[in-house]
Amino acid sequence: MPNIFLVGTHWGDEGKGKIVDVLSDKSTACVRFQGGHNAGHTLVIKGKKTILHLIPSGILRDSCKSIIGNGVVVSLEALIDEIDNLATSDVQVEDKLTISEGCHIILPTHKALDIAREKSLGKKSIGTTGRGIGPAYEDKVSRQGIRLKDFEDKNFEKKLQNLVSYHNFILKNYYNDSEVPLASVIKDLESYYSQVKKYVCNIEELLNEVVKTSGCIFEGAQGTMLDIDHGTYPYVTSSNTTFAGLLSGTGLSPTDIEYSLGITKAYTTRVGQGPFPSELDGELGKNIAKWGGEKGATTGRDRRCGWLDTKILRKSIKLNNINGIALTKLDVLDKLDKIKICLNYGEIDYNSMSVDDLEYLEMDGWQQSTSNAKSYDDLPKNAKLYIEKIEDICSTSIVLVSTGPDREQIIYRNKIFE
Ligand code: GDP
Ligand code: IMO
Ligand code: MG
Repeated sequence: MPNIFLVGTHWGDEGKGKIVDVLSDKSTACVRFQGGHNAGHTLVIKGKKTILHLIPSGILRDSCKSIIGNGVVVSLEALIDEIDNLATSDVQVEDKLTISEGCHIILPTHKALDIAREKSLGKKSIGTTGRGIGPAYEDKVSRQGIRLKDFEDKNFEKKLQNLVSYHNFILKNYYNDSEVPLASVIKDLESYYSQVKKYVCNIEELLNEVVKTSGCIFEGAQGTMLDIDHGTYPYVTSSNTTFAGLLSGTGLSPTDIEYSLGITKAYTTRVGQGPFPSELDGELGKNIAKWGGEKGATTGRDRRCGWLDTKILRKSIKLNNINGIALTKLDVLDKLDKIKICLNYGEIDYNSMSVDDLEYLEMDGWQQSTSNAKSYDDLPKNAKLYIEKIEDICSTSIVLVSTGPDREQIIYRNKIFE
């Protein structure tokens, strides 16, 4: 299998975790390179559900190394929780997990700032996950952030003290909010770091080694339209979720990546605020949400649902140099008699959150179950027509089709993944 970059093509929750889990069977390593525990990636194996936020989704495979690259912002508390949760399911991370010493950490004051800012924005809030992601990346960019390697620096405590005092000044004087006691921040961080220190190192050599042997999966978090530069700004996350983020978040070169796999849901969803041109805000949207179990894996919020937006899909294909698409959640559309595909629309007006000239194509549904299909030929004729129409519109092949949450519910259409 090639080294694969796996990226969500819309606003996240496309089913990346499931596809990583499926493909990690043949992988040597799985790497996260941006985002943090704002992500929620769901894996279902023989009915048993695991939700991962920070640890790469290859962790359930014994032969797959899990690597967290320098572009990820790490909450040590969330990391320890996740390791402990996996241990209760008998998944040991000890010999499999490696974390870059260049990762910036998320402090409790980052979380407090995220929440205070969202509150002060009122109706104009972004709808963040409240995990401190934005403020942690802000400190990285302003060169005052704290990396894992800084724990070993003799000036660590002073640096931390300066940063927490700065955060507390803003919390108190700008947001009129409570400060976070510095002593507890230091005490907690030291305890957390002592527990995770064994995973932390310079990962340059390891990464260069795993890409040489091929079969490495680079697991994107969030989705293309949440990219800080190319998404629906300001309703985005604070990292580059697209191909560029892989490069800066690992230090690898473009030629190390041999295949870009776009993960696309058969309809479109978004969680949090921001424009959503093909949104279905009536009964139909609610039904799709119900059939698709569209509740946030991180915050439990209801996800907004709409028709598949192929204007965004075409943009994602270009931005990420996508070679093939994994189409997920096809089964969720099984009951519909008519299905629409959003083809195009004009510029988004960010004041009214609306668009002009929405164009749709309507197709007949298949109204029968696809969840037990084992091969492409098992799919109903209209489901195949739907898939092939998307391929036509985007000039890109759909190489995998997912028809249910379980690891086994997958149809391969390209030999490189078999
Ligand atoms: P991610 O963030 O991209 O990994 O996606 P999430 O895990 O947040 O959300 C995807 C949801 O859809 C999860 O509950 C998955 O278990 C589920 N899922 C993934 N693929 C399929 C599929 O083909 N059919 C159905 N019905 N559910 C799926
Ligand atoms: P996965 O990896 C869907 C959204 C939030 C909010 C915006 C900014 O599971 O696909 P942040 O906390 O990152 O500052 O929030 O981004 N968001 C996601 N939406 N899936 C995700 O991750 C998301 N991670 C962040 O809802 O709108
Ligand atoms: Mg998710």
